[in-house]
Amino acid sequence: MSRVYNFSAGPAVLPEEVLREAADEMLDYRGTGMSVMEMSHRSKAFAGIIEEAEADIRELMQIPDNYKVLFLQGGASQQFAMIPMNLMKNRVADYIVTGQWAKKAYQEAQKYGKVNKIASSEDKTFSYIPDCSDLPVSPDADYVYICENNTIYGTKFKTLPNTKGKTLVADVSSCFLSEPVDVTKYGVIYGGVQKNIGPAGVVIVIIREDLITDDVLPGTPTMLKYKTHADAGSLYNTPPAYGIYICGKVFKWLKAQGGLAAMKERNEKKAALLYDFLDQSRLFKGTVRKEDRSLMNVPFVTGDEELDAKFVAEAKKAGLENLKGHRTVGGMRASIYNAMPYEGVQALVDFMAQFEKENL
Ligand SMILES: Cc1ncc(COP(=O)(O)O)c(C=O)c1O
Repeated sequence: MSRVYNFSAGPAVLPEEVLREAADEMLDYRGTGMSVMEMSHRSKAFAGIIEEAEADIRELMQIPDNYKVLFLQGGASQQFAMIPMNLMKNRVADYIVTGQWAKKAYQEAQKYGKVNKIASSEDKTFSYIPDCSDLPVSPDADYVYICENNTIYGTKFKTLPNTKGKTLVADVSSCFLSEPVDVTKYGVIYGGVQKNIGPAGVVIVIIREDLITDDVLPGTPTMLKYKTHADAGSLYNTPPAYGIYICGKVFKWLKAQGGLAAMKERNEKKAALLYDFLDQSRLFKGTVRKEDRSLMNVPFVTGDEELDAKFVAEAKKAGLENLKGHRTVGGMRASIYNAMPYEGVQALVDFMAQFEKENL
């Protein structure tokens, strides 16, 4: 068996220890004689799995008691609709558009009310985060929306926007659990888990209790009401059980690594290794304004499309996979999520240095 260094933006690398443990438990989960995939979501064994997963993510993120943690389906994209359907009491919301995912959320919300784009970085291909210290927040906005880490462009909000007292809603799909966060600053934090936490099919929504009501937009399907899932402890219908089980294992792995402060330190070290190389390279260059650089997604280019393609192909032969940039941006992108070891980033940097020598 040989494993590659997988720099995919998502679905993405998972901790090897977690995969091994899941493999060991595949046929017989802790004496139940069955796989987690085969068991009832109403069983005692699964109740243990989901309750422990929730307790562990609460501990990791220090989630206060007045927030619910929901394990849902539908991808992060389904939240683009669920958020306005559940939160738009005045039918007004403000969006900060810093990339394609924020833009999609902004467009979807327009189906439900008056949606204002109060800031954007589209003028420079989303290569920076706009100053959000004094935005024209609408007096009647139900919430202000951000995508906190922009997976495609490799930018990250280092300071949260000043929402002038309005509820902050954040898509954290590609920076989930990568560093400590102050949950109290948000009304809703959500993300698809397939980047930093687990297999595709689970979306985690952390939502302040006062935002969970029956007062949703008319016609909101039962399955798209936060209250439906909050009241049922994420077991209103069959949840993505196996995915939740793997997420639970990743939470335990994160705790064993020392929690989110330790992850932040590790992630900063990994990112610095790659960014420092890019900053001195004569062939490769980063595409993002320095102060807005993501710790998780690192786009870079040579400036020559053919050379980019050659790099991606040769890197693959060297066991460094999925380095092609997003189809809308081109170039390269290395996603270096929690489970990517320092050695993986070192191997990438060594390979880049060698490629530079041979191709400059
Ligand atoms: C920041 C962000 N939001 C939303 C999405 C969409 O997620 P999904 O495919 O789970 O709908 C993605 C990624 O694919 C993403 O990176």
